[in-house]
Amino acid sequence: MKIVIIGGTGLIGSKTAPILRQRGHEVVAASPDTGVNTITGEGLKEVLAGAQVVIDLANSPSFEDKAVLEFFETSERHLLPAEVSAGVQHHVALSIVAIDRTDNGYFRAKVAQEKLIEASRIPYTIVRATQFMEFLGGIADSSMTGNTVTLPPVLFQPIAADDVAANVAEVALAAPRNGIVEIAGPERAPFNEIVARYLKAIGDPRQVVGDPEAGYWGGRVEERSLVPLGEARLGRIGLDEWLRAHPAPANRRSAQ
Ligand SMILES: NC(=O)c1ccc[n+]([C@@H]2O[C@H](COP(=O)([O-])OP(=O)(O)OC[C@H]3O[C@@H](n4cnc5c(N)ncnc54)[C@H](OP(=O)(O)O)[C@@H]3O)[C@@H](O)[C@H]2O)c1
Repeated sequence: MKIVIIGGTGLIGSKTAPILRQRGHEVVAASPDTGVNTITGEGLKEVLAGAQVVIDLANSPSFEDKAVLEFFETSERHLLPAEVSAGVQHHVALSIVAIDRTDNGYFRAKVAQEKLIEASRIPYTIVRATQFMEFLGGIADSSMTGNTVTLPPVLFQPIAADDVAANVAEVALAAPRNGIVEIAGPERAPFNEIVARYLKAIGDPRQVVGDPEAGYWGGRVEERSLVPLGEARLGRIGLDEWLRAHPAPANRRSAQ
């Protein structure tokens, strides 16, 4: 079947597309560079013609509160009606665990995105993932004062992008849930300890300090604010295995 991946050139999109192609599907990896822009609406009608499944893996170029909210709202307002017109049968979107019980600007934007999907007439599945391991470097950088990284000692359960892509592909090929599926990494440990392990493994001398008052992207967090509370599918790749495969800081990313 024809599957369109919006944001198909990004971190998760570029890993999801080959999995689906290998299973014999026609996959279009769409992005502004390929003439498909969910903010302007450019190219949507053309790319969605004949598509049965759409996977939305687009991300905002700016994480400023107002900009990110505008990105996800505008994007869905163009994409969802275009999918209705094209007769798309399953809309899959990648969201984040705990966005509706942990407050920060980016999470509020993802809640707005989910609400638009739920209110649409298209059968859907929302995959909520914990933070990507590829994001650990960006977290350290954004939580740094001088040479010290300060993080709350709350539970953290990062997942490798390869595991996210495998789960997104599996969900896209299954029947729509009209609900949420949660995915997380196989290990749960205090946030500051995981980031300290990451920095040590890449030879970064920065010290990590656990401070219960330190928030996450400006929002207050408690012990279980960032991890799944109920049943979640677990990835296969543990942090040590991921670190062995990613020994250099080249995989640092600044995303949520
Ligand atoms: N980072 C995390 O820890 C985390 C955790 C859970 C869920 N998520 C979610 O996972 C999703 C994918 O994240 P990612 O890290 O794979 O993103 P990414 O690497 O930043 O890729 C974003 C993709 O979106 C495309 N894009 C940007 N603006 C667009 C537009 N106007 N129209 C169409 N496509 C556009 C980009 O194309 P260009 O490259 O051409 O600009 C790129 O292909 C996001 O929705 C994010 O909220 C992230």
